[in-house]
Parts: sequence; structure tokens; C-alpha cells
Amino acid sequence: MARILLLGSTGFVGRAVAHKALDAGHQLRVLVRDPMKAAAFKVRGAQVLVGDALNAASVTQAAQGVEHIISLVAVRRNRPQSYLAVNVDGPRILGEAAKASGARSVVFVSAIGAKLDPHFKYFTSRWMGEQELAKTGVTGTILRFTFIIGEDGGIVKEFERALFGPFAVIPGSGQARMQPILREDAARCIVEAITKPELLGKIVELGGPEVVTYETIFDWFLQARRIRKPKLRLPTAVLIPAAMAMEAVSKDPMVTADEVRMIQADNLAAGIDSVSSQFGWRPSAPGAWAPTHWAKRA
Ligand SMILES: NC(=O)c1ccc[n+]([C@@H]2O[C@H](COP(=O)([O-])OP(=O)(O)OC[C@H]3O[C@@H](n4cnc5c(N)ncnc54)[C@H](OP(=O)(O)O)[C@@H]3O)[C@@H](O)[C@H]2O)c1
Repeated sequence: MARILLLGSTGFVGRAVAHKALDAGHQLRVLVRDPMKAAAFKVRGAQVLVGDALNAASVTQAAQGVEHIISLVAVRRNRPQSYLAVNVDGPRILGEAAKASGARSVVFVSAIGAKLDPHFKYFTSRWMGEQELAKTGVTGTILRFTFIIGEDGGIVKEFERALFGPFAVIPGSGQARMQPILREDAARCIVEAITKPELLGKIVELGGPEVVTYETIFDWFLQARRIRKPKLRLPTAVLIPAAMAMEAVSKDPMVTADEVRMIQADNLAAGIDSVSSQFGWRPSAPGAWAPTHWAKRA
């Protein structure tokens, strides 16, 4: 069993990763800003350290004596924390701390779509972060995921926001292709990656067993919650200026221009069997999972 430091354990995916690591019998240490958010892991035996993942001294100290570091720290919006501080400087700080502490490997979670492209600020920041991590010379595996689906959080929050007034709003055409993966399965990949030295130095793109459109996933959600609002497709030519205006006046806009652009682009893994080819097991189909798991909160 391994000694692991997990950064980002309090987030939507991180919570599942923490529990998966504990289920597997690993010795888990988490570095968190708010220790109350880590209560559920602490009662299961995790060591909880309080500190900021952007503070080099905190991360280096937290990394002492661990074999592997897993990081899920990232922000999807440029406010209140910035992409540059979290998504770009964060991985550099992580890599330097890993080297200083002598950790054997780093598993860094990123996003499919990460690329240098000024039209996509979030994806550019993730690509820059991957580069910063690599520049530190640390031995690591980068796992890029497609949409990760759970009972709450993630895309569910976006869908809830899209139930605007009398309509269920689809940003743009809704026809971009996605390959969603369940949070449990993504967490399993992340924890198992520490036992796969053959993945070191690689960027691995992972997704679920179905390719579906954004609108299909939205339909799963609407059906599971028995929501019968008419769908309203808002063209990006209308939505992007509206999102920019919302961003100008609100700290927490309903949607950002970058998010609207991202939802128009296909977000697919390296093949339909990306998980089974790398990890040897087949992830569950979100289409069969959604009707019961999303219905619970109706
Ligand atoms: N959700 C998806 O559909 C999806 C898809 C593809 C890839 N991913 C990747 O999965 C990873 C996790 O995503 P998520 O959806 O779980 O995000 P999330 O819920 O927003 O969680 C982000 C985590 O990062 C932590 N964090 C942010 N800034 C920090 C800072 N300055 N210092 C310390 N911790 C900080 C947060 O801690 P606090 O609790 O203290 O804020 C939280 O634990 C990201 O790398 C993301 O790109 C997610």
C-alpha cells in the first residue's frame, strides 16, 4: 500500500478520489484550506494538513515522506482565483515540491481540450499548466478527462443553471460530442494510475464508453428529474455577448463566454475503449446510470 498526498481532495472529483484511495488501503494525506471539508476522510484515517496548494512551502512540507502525489487542483473560471495563479503556477509549485521531497511520482489531473488556443482561455491555462509541470522535470502522468458525471456538482450545476425561467436553455447547437465518464470510474483511474509506471511521462486521455451529444446528456438530466420545460436553443452569437455582459457585472455569472465556447467543441477521449486499454476494466455507461442517480434529487 502506498503513501499518497492528495491535493484538491475537497472538490467534486477529489472527494471520490480520497475515498477510493482509502478503500484501496492506501495511507492518505490531504492538504486542504478548510479542514472541515476533509472531515469525512479524517474519520476514515486520512491525515489532514491545513495549507494552500499554491504555497510552495506548504506543499513541499506536505509532500515529505510520501511516494506519490495526486493533484486535482484547478479552477474552471478565471475569478475569484485566476487561471494563471491556480492552473499555471499551481502545477509548477507541485512539480518543484515533488522533486524537493523525493516523491516517486505525480499524477496530475487535467482536461481533454487542453491546448494553446486563444479562443479557449481555460483550455489554454490547462495546457500551460501541463507544460509548467513538465518543465520541473518531475516524473509524472497526466490524466486528461472528458466530462465527469456525478450525482451533484460538475455538469449538474450547469444544467440546473440552464433551467432558466420557463425554458431549458441549450447553449448553441447542443450537438458537440462528449464522452462522459462517471466520477467513481474517473476516481478509480486516478488512484490506479499510481501503480502504473508504464504511464509515467505520458498524457492519457480518458472518457466513458458512450459518445453522445451535449443535448443527449441534458435530456438524461431532464428526464431523470421529470422536467418538461420546452428547450430553447440560444445561438452562440447571442449567448457569447450576453455572457460577456454578465461577466462584467457579476462575480458569479450564470455562464461565461469561455464556457459557451467550450460546450460547442467536441470533447472526446483517445478512443471509446480508452479506460479499458489503459486500466483493463470497462467503465459504466452514464446513460444507464443517469435515470436513477439524477432522479434522486428531483
Ligand atoms: N468536473 C469535471 O467534469 C472535470 C472534467 C475533466 C477534468 N476535470 C479535472 O478534475 C480536477 C478536479 O475538478 P473538480 O470538478 O473536482 O473541481 P472542483 O470541484 O472545483 O475542485 C477543485 C479543487 O481544487 C481546490 N483548490 C482550488 N484552488 C485551490 C488553492 N488555491 N489551494 C488549494 N486548493 C485549491 C479546491 O479546494 P477548495 O475546496 O478549498 O476550494 C478543490 O478541492 C480538475 O483538474 C479538473 O480539470 C474535471
